[in-house]
Amino acid sequence: MINAVEVIGAQLKARTGRALAEAVSGAIGSGLLEPDTKLPPIRTVAASLEMSPSTVSTAWNLLLRAGVIRTDGRRGTTVSSPANPGPTRYRRALQHQSSTGLDLSSGIPDAALLPDLSAALRNLRPSWQQNYLDDPMLPELKDVLLSDWPYQPDRLTIVDGAMDAIDQVASHLIRIGDAVIVEHPTFPPFLDLLDALGARTVGVDVDDEGILPEQLEAALASGAKTLLLQPRSHNPTGVSMSTRRAKALSAVLSAWSGWIIEDDSAGSISLRPPISLGQWLPDRAVHIRSFSKSHGPDLRLAAVSGPANLMDAIIERRMLGQGWTSRLLQSLLLDLLKRPETIAQVSRAKTIYAERRASVVAELNRLHVTTIGADGLNIWLPVEHETAAMLSLASRGVAVAAGGPFATKVDDADHLRVSVSSVNRDFEELATNLRDASLAAPTWGPR
Ligand SMILES: Cc1ncc(COP(=O)(O)O)c(C=O)c1O
Repeated sequence: MINAVEVIGAQLKARTGRALAEAVSGAIGSGLLEPDTKLPPIRTVAASLEMSPSTVSTAWNLLLRAGVIRTDGRRGTTVSSPANPGPTRYRRALQHQSSTGLDLSSGIPDAALLPDLSAALRNLRPSWQQNYLDDPMLPELKDVLLSDWPYQPDRLTIVDGAMDAIDQVASHLIRIGDAVIVEHPTFPPFLDLLDALGARTVGVDVDDEGILPEQLEAALASGAKTLLLQPRSHNPTGVSMSTRRAKALSAVLSAWSGWIIEDDSAGSISLRPPISLGQWLPDRAVHIRSFSKSHGPDLRLAAVSGPANLMDAIIERRMLGQGWTSRLLQSLLLDLLKRPETIAQVSRAKTIYAERRASVVAELNRLHVTTIGADGLNIWLPVEHETAAMLSLASRGVAVAAGGPFATKVDDADHLRVSVSSVNRDFEELATNLRDASLAAPTWGPR
């Protein structure tokens, strides 16, 4: 039987909580510690590694938050298992939702800003002549989408939402044990999906222009074959990739033979024009645009583009299951994308979301709280202590999402994700509550 402490000790570079957490996560990433391995009690680890129990406890907390280990009363602490997948991070991020007060936890669009579908629905003509053997995508919809696509791809098709696209592409490309590079932080369902596929994630930090090229370069050295990123309105930070950064990332990726999967989930409610690494690396990029945020989540529609060698295999494989996305829904989307009133409604929604986000950020800045990103529906708020901040807000009737489930690597900086898509007043009061929460310290535990 392996001695977990010896394995961890061999990876340990310093006797700090963070270094210990990195040693454990490194041992898991390289397969030295297998899923479900039981870790010894904190005191045993502390004594064996000549560290204090509180330093070990800090490391364990970091690892728990990142979902790398789990505690289960009777079994103690064990290495998390990708064999028990499920939307665990997604649920954890939203578990403090409140039914009363101000719910800023969900990241969904404001229902009042979604376009009115009634005229387009009335205009819908069932096309009974369409059958199993027709093109899975309406040719006219393809033309309309390509007129606004960031590059000219070999193939463009339509699927049932961005997560459906990512699921199909990732399931096709990723094998158990593969390393996948993702932004740190990222959208928790990506991590749940990658867990379900048995992949190992390698997190890279983002700044105001996108992921950091130097970190990407280092991450490529891990042997990763896939990069999953959000080019615009990154959830949770609101960062949209600049053209300068996209060029720098493309240069780093040019000698690499892996795949880039881009999730443009905010689509036309983003302030910035469409952008894709496919503009520089069309043979390596899969670009996905969701219509959930711009036109409505229940349409369940997203367009996905990529090179023929990959997309043809995915489209063919899909014919053995779902087949294609209902052409009735495709006709509806086509109408919405061409209808002047709908175009105006979506454009108005984009402006209002931007104003709401900017109003909250301006008030936060006035209170000396700084955040990154300037786009999308969310604000990534740095806080002293995640749980204390959540409790502070809950006591004032405000629900937000915990930052931990968004983490893709061990990180001792706590955050909350605050979704501001529906916040249309009392910006100053909200910012004050957020600032107070950001400073809240735990009132429990050793003092
Ligand atoms: C980054 C990101 N990707 C994907 C989705 C889901 O998109 P869809 O409804 O198209 O599956 C969301 C929804 O919040 C999201 O934030």
